[in-house]
Amino acid sequence: MEESVQELLRAARRAIVEARRDVKALEQIRVRYLGRKGELTQLFKQLAGASENDRPRFGKLLNEAKLQLESGIAAALGQAKKQEHSGKEQFDVTVPGRSPVRGHLHPITQTALEISRIFNWLGFETVEGPEVELDYYNFEALNIPRDHPARDMQDTFYVSEDVVLRTHTSPLQIRTMEKRRPPIRIIAPGKAYRCDSDVTHTPMFHQVEGLMVGENISFGDLKGILTIFVHQMFGPDVGLRFRPSFFPFTEPSAEVDIQCVMCAGRGCRVCSDTGWLEILGSGMVDPEVYKMVGYDPEEVTGFAFGMGIERIAMLKFGIDDLRLFFENDLRFLRQF
Ligand code: DAH
Repeated sequence: MEESVQELLRAARRAIVEARRDVKALEQIRVRYLGRKGELTQLFKQLAGASENDRPRFGKLLNEAKLQLESGIAAALGQAKKQEHSGKEQFDVTVPGRSPVRGHLHPITQTALEISRIFNWLGFETVEGPEVELDYYNFEALNIPRDHPARDMQDTFYVSEDVVLRTHTSPLQIRTMEKRRPPIRIIAPGKAYRCDSDVTHTPMFHQVEGLMVGENISFGDLKGILTIFVHQMFGPDVGLRFRPSFFPFTEPSAEVDIQCVMCAGRGCRVCSDTGWLEILGSGMVDPEVYKMVGYDPEEVTGFAFGMGIERIAMLKFGIDDLRLFFENDLRFLRQF
């Protein structure tokens, strides 16, 4: 009997240690030794068969073993429960932290800010205006008469008879000149809308409008400012050219091409083998426009320009599909 009890105690102690403060495992150990059919309980049953001599001694032995086991399991359980509880507040200060995902500006916003930065540096102030615009500012005051093709329902989103989603940022020319007197140097970045959707057009896109008006502002100033801009934006070695064009609100008008940034002017798919890419429209503000805002065309001169931000961003970052800007796939956006 002594040996059986010693053996049982040894095994039980080992089991308690191996349970490693696992509450479930400790409960199982209690059942295994002290339960109704437990190993120690079985030994108690053998007491009845022991001789009168041995019975008191065995009884004492078993009772002591039972106490030892009970207190051993209780102590281990106590510790296990305490640990389980405090584990929630414990943390290992040596574990490297999980770095939070840091967002960044959309490439279109980055490009708009970069364009603004260059013109701000040249003394142009950034202004903004409404995207839902009066027909008057979007067309009429810009010398775009009622029957002009740009007013075709195909291009313009009409909100009502006199209200449109602005089709360009040019209304900011009028809104600014109405409010201020020359000298004026502003740029106006923002959204524009046209009822047009294919591989190279989206119904919403971004433009930057520029306007410089004062005394003796010449076409030479236009060329100088836009040349500085192109060199700042695309690098000092990129060539540019001014091509005659037409806009109702400028006279004379010019479109600006830059040497293709993909092939350095040699000719490729992007520039249709011409070596040149159109990036903006510009011109000297038409006297008709000055009359609309109450300026005297004999006293003031100036120039205006407008460019598409998506186009600039595509050339700057070497992106060949406009739609990527609007799908907002993080795998694309994270590259900028
Ligand atoms: N508003 C024109 C467009 O959306 C772009 C433009 C051309 C703006 C010539 C100008 C300009 O200020 O002078 O196509």
